[in-house]
Amino acid sequence: MTEQLKGKVNYSTQGNIAILEVDNPPVNPLSSGVRAGLSEYILKANSDDSIEGIILTGAGRSFIAGADISEFGQKPDGPDLHTALREIEFSKKPVVAAINGTALGGGLETALVCNYRIGTNKAIVGLPEVNLGLLPGAGGTQRLPRLIGPSQALKMMLAGTPMSAKKALDQGVIDAISENSLIEDAILFLQDKIGLDEHPKVRDKNDKVIEARGDNNILAEARALAAKTRRGQFAPGQIIACVEAAINEDNFDDGMKKEADYFLECLVNPQREAMIHIFFGERAASKIADIPKETPLHPINKAGVVGSGTMGGGIAMLFANAGIPVLVLDQDEDNLKRGMGVIEKNYKMMVDRGRMLEEQKDAVMQLITPTLTYEDLSEVDIVVEAVYENLDLKQEIFQKLDTHTNANAILASNTSGLDIDAIASSTSRPGKVVGTHFFSPANIMRLLEVVRGEESSDETMATVMALGKKMNKASVVSLNAPGFIGNRMLSGYTYQANMLLLEGALPNQVDNALESFGMSMGPFRMMDLVGLDLGWRARKLAGIESPLVNKISDELCEQDRFGQKNARGFYNYSEGSRAPNPAPENEDIYKSISEKHNFVRREISDQEIIDRCILALVNEGAQILSEGVAQRSGDMDIVYINGYGFPIWRGGPMCYANMLGLDEVTKRMEEFAKSDEKFWKISPLLTKLATEGSRFGEAPSKEEREAKLSFKDSKNMGGV
Ligand code: 3HC
Repeated sequence: MTEQLKGKVNYSTQGNIAILEVDNPPVNPLSSGVRAGLSEYILKANSDDSIEGIILTGAGRSFIAGADISEFGQKPDGPDLHTALREIEFSKKPVVAAINGTALGGGLETALVCNYRIGTNKAIVGLPEVNLGLLPGAGGTQRLPRLIGPSQALKMMLAGTPMSAKKALDQGVIDAISENSLIEDAILFLQDKIGLDEHPKVRDKNDKVIEARGDNNILAEARALAAKTRRGQFAPGQIIACVEAAINEDNFDDGMKKEADYFLECLVNPQREAMIHIFFGERAASKIADIPKETPLHPINKAGVVGSGTMGGGIAMLFANAGIPVLVLDQDEDNLKRGMGVIEKNYKMMVDRGRMLEEQKDAVMQLITPTLTYEDLSEVDIVVEAVYENLDLKQEIFQKLDTHTNANAILASNTSGLDIDAIASSTSRPGKVVGTHFFSPANIMRLLEVVRGEESSDETMATVMALGKKMNKASVVSLNAPGFIGNRMLSGYTYQANMLLLEGALPNQVDNALESFGMSMGPFRMMDLVGLDLGWRARKLAGIESPLVNKISDELCEQDRFGQKNARGFYNYSEGSRAPNPAPENEDIYKSISEKHNFVRREISDQEIIDRCILALVNEGAQILSEGVAQRSGDMDIVYINGYGFPIWRGGPMCYANMLGLDEVTKRMEEFAKSDEKFWKISPLLTKLATEGSRFGEAPSKEEREAKLSFKDSKNMGGV
């Protein structure tokens, strides 16, 4: 029956128990064949007189990973999920969900229509739909509040982060944990229940929702949480509205109807498409087009980090968090002590904030060992060098690493822009050399640009990408080209921000416009955070005159305004605070520099600010793609969302351009080119896609296909 449908359910019996096993590798989403199989076999078990109880479980590592995400936005195929869930919920024979792994989204919602839930101690449950721009649309918003109370349910659905079996047991999401064989324990559990007159249904548990009626705090707190953690997103408000219905509707099915309506609104909202693009985009980015999936990985059992500063410390934490023992090397004893102290302090902060248990902190700290000598690195499988950006210094370190580490060890340089091939050339193993551009703070920011050198081997690349996944990074491959992907795109964005300032905008207008677009931080607040003096000092040292675009920031430095580090830059900062306050005293500087360089300051609209800054990202992204520096347009989106505060609900700059329509994008760029022809050279790839009426990443154009093919061979060093 399920031949042409996707996925299946296996049916077997053990005595008086029927076992339904969802089988849709690798993670068992509720694809058409699974939905059909669930309905069919629940009915089969119910019509078999020898069967008295039913177990629902998953094959492999997952219970059910939710609805099949690839189906959203497509024509529905096969039976609908609600029909299958109704068959389970109204089964005459008791059903226990035996949760063998991840039960996420529709997976947990399936477990919630079962009468009982038992999980292994490795089981993970959650409703992560909000991360896809959706709400739990298979009854989750109505059943979870009934089971654990509206307040906890809201927290879980708005965070979208999964919880462990132990926490799920404590909160009452599951009824028991199996420490031995899950199916045997589920059978024993069920035998105990067979014969009871009635079996509990979550839909009938009304106490907790009735108790919440009239308590305005619950919804107000949820709204405040959503405003803080999910600014600009559509789905959180819909989730809250659903829970409001769960609290106030007398009839469970009326709440379900509201959930269906609100779910549909999410489904047709462009944010859903953007966020699902990111879900698949992140997984696509982790694959390298010309490296076979089966490429053997170099086992990483022990690691080293050179440099114990902020970066080195953060990277060491990542290794330890992934369970990999790591040596942190610094040649200065005081630095090393300070660095270890910072690591300890960071973990302590996590314990204080309830994100880690004291014993977990002790366990990870045990994995981090300080050292002063290269000889200690002789047995590591990988070293990440994380010293400051200086090619000579890095080459010197790589020579030492080449001498002191095992010949098979991978040597990675954490650099934001140095030439990996030049670093590799100082070793006898260029195939084992790779760039790993972590973003600061490395233990928090998810982006990892993996820089592929001319000679980086397939094994090295595949190993580092797998390591990135183990560290829970969003890893993206870049060719070894100036600025890699992210910083190269950023240069056009900040160029536009600075030019807007010269033309008449003020920093807070530019920042506010881009923050209301959804950027987590406007460009001037970002420049203040990084420090205005870095470029200024470098230019002074090299005796280079300030380029037009840097005239204002360099003048601020001349006036001793370096940014947050000395409490004044584009903004003023009160002591101990990072909150920017307007700096009206700067306005004369802006005016005089504009005047001096023949700008007639004018009113600039927020729309122009957004277009110029964001479309600058898009144009450079298109150029990067056509040069083969990035593999696919979605990779740029992953970079911008995970490393540069681009709003996830807009799907990244390239997805945003697709949604705007590439013909509209080029039209706006052409308009800007009238006053700045030099900057607005539209990428030929972008022009071509726009002319064809095509989109980035869809029906790859010849250039995109060639870009992928030439990825390994490209010698193009970009055009920053
Ligand atoms: N639907 C379709 N495909 C899915 C999927 C899903 N729900 N979940 C994962 N996949 C695919 C991935 O795209 C990937 O495909 P690929 O190999 O071709 O790249 C493959 O399964 C393996 O996924 P991961 O690489 O992510 O595997 P991990 O082991 O690292 O992680 C996981 C497993 C934790 C289950 C993770 O895949 C995940 O978080 N999945 C999404 C869970 C989710 O968001 N569920 C909610 C769906 S929406 C919903 O249920 C709506 C409902 O309320 C009506």
